[in-house]
Amino acid sequence: MRRPLVAGNWKMHGTRTSVAELLSGLLDACRNCRAEVAVMPSLVHLEQVFQALEGSEVVLGAQNCAVEPGQGALTGEVSASQLLDFSCTYVLVGHSERRQLLGEDDQQVVRKFSAVQSCGITPILCVGETLAERESDQTLNVVLGQVSAVLDALGVQAFSRAVVAYEPVWAIGTGLTATADQAQQVHAAIRQHVAAFDADVAEKLRILYGGSVKSTNAVELFAMPDIDGGLVGGASLNADEFGAICRAAGN
Ligand code: 13P
Repeated sequence: MRRPLVAGNWKMHGTRTSVAELLSGLLDACRNCRAEVAVMPSLVHLEQVFQALEGSEVVLGAQNCAVEPGQGALTGEVSASQLLDFSCTYVLVGHSERRQLLGEDDQQVVRKFSAVQSCGITPILCVGETLAERESDQTLNVVLGQVSAVLDALGVQAFSRAVVAYEPVWAIGTGLTATADQAQQVHAAIRQHVAAFDADVAEKLRILYGGSVKSTNAVELFAMPDIDGGLVGGASLNADEFGAICRAAGN
């Protein structure tokens, strides 16, 4: 049985004041949740969130890290080992905003994935197609290609300590959500692809859906057999809304 995971990706949002408010509402809203809950603040708020989460069941994650796991001379970057110092449980790698807007390629994604794992942290590998790719029937080619980049470089066992997040680029921040059937189809294809290398790893692999997840569509999405929770952007900035999504994943 895969325990559902709901991760709130706060992206580049928040001030110390708004983060404090969000945290107090969220800790209330997520109490006794059956799903595992993670929050991923902007790095400037990591210490604040780390302290606020102490003693709670909500775990901490980061949105990105450097390609090398250790500390070093790399201005402006943060290494996975530094994230471990804050007990980060998860780190996102290959989010589409970084792939599309910052030119992150599969090779960098593989290095970050490996850096995260080498520090004992679980990477959440983000994959997803653009609207043009979906409209030209390239969805599975693109998504499975992004998964394969890691599989080929690091082997299938790397997925026994990882999470995958399917986030169609056209559904992120747009209010457009993949239908539950559309998402399920891609999630099943990802699982099958991994199963071709190792059925047990594939069966245990959690695959999250991301892209305009809200309390109103979460129940239907999370009811799908291969959707094991969500990676939530905008709706994770509202404690009540995020709490409702977490409860939807726990049911
Ligand atoms: P939204 O939920 O705002 O569409 O963002 C999804 C996302 O990118 C999470 O990583």
